[in-house]
Amino acid sequence: MKHKDKDIYILGIESSCDDTSAAVLRDGLLLSNVTASQSVHEAYGGVVPELASRAHQQNIVPVVDQALKQAGIEREQLDAIAFTRGPGLMGSLLVGVSFAKGLSASLGIPLVDVNHLHGHVLAHFIHTEGDGYESPGFPFLCLLVSGGNSQIVLVKSYKDMEIVGQTIDDAAGEAIDKCSKVMGLGYPGGPIIDRLARNGNPEAFSFAKPNIQGYDYSFSGLKTSFLYSLRDWVKDDPDFVEHHKEDLAASLERTIVDILMKKLRKAAKDLGIKQVAVAGGVSANSGLRAAFLDHARRFGWKVFIPRFSYTTDNAAMIAMAGYFKYRDGDFCPISAPAYSRNIV
Ligand code: KG4
Repeated sequence: MKHKDKDIYILGIESSCDDTSAAVLRDGLLLSNVTASQSVHEAYGGVVPELASRAHQQNIVPVVDQALKQAGIEREQLDAIAFTRGPGLMGSLLVGVSFAKGLSASLGIPLVDVNHLHGHVLAHFIHTEGDGYESPGFPFLCLLVSGGNSQIVLVKSYKDMEIVGQTIDDAAGEAIDKCSKVMGLGYPGGPIIDRLARNGNPEAFSFAKPNIQGYDYSFSGLKTSFLYSLRDWVKDDPDFVEHHKEDLAASLERTIVDILMKKLRKAAKDLGIKQVAVAGGVSANSGLRAAFLDHARRFGWKVFIPRFSYTTDNAAMIAMAGYFKYRDGDFCPISAPAYSRNIV
């Protein structure tokens, strides 16, 4: 039997948007996952890129220190550094990318670049000691829904992923956030809409649903329909939103979940796949989670719903994706630049 020389420690770093996060894995098991979120954007109703990169600069050192401390290791014990190379906001990415490069050079250990979207999908393989979470087998379908993306991904292996459908305009999370802004609610709107929707009637209002071919999505028509409907209703009753915010939230959520599930059902049926996962920030949504469980019952799907801490941006998923690449010796040169748009 071949004896393992030592444990493999990977540090993951995520800084693609407005969360600074660091995580440590030992032989693929999660030891720590520390995230500093940025409340500075709330006042602006959306992420302000310049403020995000400044906050990353302030947060990156303490967040990495904390992740190493919680994992109970010294930085000299690390075997590799996995980092989000893109897609994301360039000024935000540059902080994590530069930090990862500097630390890897000073420690003389390899760098592993991770595509942020692959990270979200591979969040389903994060395990802590004895957590009992069952990961999907290959191939599986993953609905990846966040503030910046809405995709149906056919996951053939850790590194072989095919986007079978995606939004042609807004992402689902972006649509929720924009509608919530129109209602005068806070930012990000997703969790607020979710909370309000629990006490509302999803049949109270109806909004435009897109009619797009294939497996692609579109959310901009829904957003416009929501805006115009609200404008008309507010003309008659200036306090319309206040009087109906729960029903509005529930109806909006229902419309978005219906749009997402319709295409996912079609893809699963056409591709003959019954293992279906959900990932990304919007996968925290209660209505979407309930729809997955409902589809499991109705269509015999085996569904995979991530823990809440792995839905929004986090470094655990980056470290996990990095671990798979590390095992293959798939390292990245120090000259590799960050990329803001998806290139892989
Ligand atoms: O994956 P993520 O953290 O960031 C990126 O887009 O990279 O996703 C953030 C998105 C936001 O649009 C936020 O409103 C949405 O996820 N979100 C939710 C919920 N929690 C976060 N949307 C609906 N229901 C939620 N509970």
